[in-house]
Amino acid sequence: MDDYNAVTCEGMAYTLINTKPEPRAGAGVSPSALAAGQGLVDGFARRVSYLRLSITDRCDLRCTYCMPERMTFLPRKDVLSFEELDQLVTQFAAFGVDKLRVTGGEPLVRKDVMELMARFARHLGHGLRELTLTTNGTLLSKYAGQLSAIGVKRVNISLDTLKQDLFASIARRDSLGDVLKGIDAALEAGLKVKLNTVALRGINEGEIPDLIRFAHERGADLTLIETMPMGEAETDRVEDFLSLETVRADLAKRWTLTDLAVSTGGPARYVKVEETGGRVGFITPLSHNFCESCNRVRVTCTGRLYTCLGREDGADLREAMRTDPSGEKLREAILGAIAAKPKGHDFDAARLASPASPRTMSHTGG
Ligand code: 5AD
Ligand code: SF4
Repeated sequence: MDDYNAVTCEGMAYTLINTKPEPRAGAGVSPSALAAGQGLVDGFARRVSYLRLSITDRCDLRCTYCMPERMTFLPRKDVLSFEELDQLVTQFAAFGVDKLRVTGGEPLVRKDVMELMARFARHLGHGLRELTLTTNGTLLSKYAGQLSAIGVKRVNISLDTLKQDLFASIARRDSLGDVLKGIDAALEAGLKVKLNTVALRGINEGEIPDLIRFAHERGADLTLIETMPMGEAETDRVEDFLSLETVRADLAKRWTLTDLAVSTGGPARYVKVEETGGRVGFITPLSHNFCESCNRVRVTCTGRLYTCLGREDGADLREAMRTDPSGEKLREAILGAIAAKPKGHDFDAARLASPASPRTMSHTGG
């Protein structure tokens, strides 16, 4: 189970410890990190174990809450090369990061994406315990089998509606059919699927129970996401904002929801729907402070490390790699940024109208 979100931590005083860290129960601490005697561990002995890495800012959809129709994508030279992405992943794995989620933009639109995924996959069992992907699903029917073959076990697929017209208006592309084929292909390939649905007031609000049923009939979990103040989308986020407290209250009238104690170190809370047997996650970055349980950092496709979603704190890892091939600057930049990781995010509902962050989700990786 997983969620898609942020990078913040309460009372965060990360320090690098040079002694062999205590493995977390059942967490499968990276052997390479242990061998190096190093790990990214905070003041409460929690490990930063999860990297979300964007491999492209490009996307074949134009979701209204994410990017404008005429999106300007980055020049290719600004985006990390395969070698640089590989170097980054290798370094984070050596630091004890054991879970990698590949994001975009839409990761599957990157040229030769499977070659890159296969490079990441060689760390599986040697540092990485898990390699996953967040995708919009349009190209999954092509790649699901190959992903499964290299050791990917789970994928998160975005799905905001099951209505063709509404899909075309939210994503500005008539691609629902491809996404549904992608979901089928993922399930057929034996991948565990989680659907991500952005809750939009008056847009897909009434369809949420149908989406949940759709997911649970296929053995998939579904996570609902509140709109977040990121980037320069053209829609009115205050208007579209739908509190998941309201959604949950509505769902509770229809179904029996049982709170689950599972924690992923992220902001999602999960319930079991007794009638369907499936799970629903709620990601509420605006209405809940989830910073205290954060175990993750993210890196954009330009190599910018963000230690907290919605804040600018971090480091320029591309610069570190391009100016020092030895990798020493890269290690220092990662450690320095994590040591300075801020206490928590600074989203709040009042800031929805003016983005807290100038970067879009497609730059940071959703
Ligand atoms: N607010 C909330 N969710 C967003 N996503 C993209 N942009 C936003 C935003 N501004 C979602 C995508 C996908 C997930 C990775 O992030 O729809 O489900
Ligand atoms: Fe593409 Fe995802 Fe943004 Fe939609 S939300 S435009 S699928 S990156």
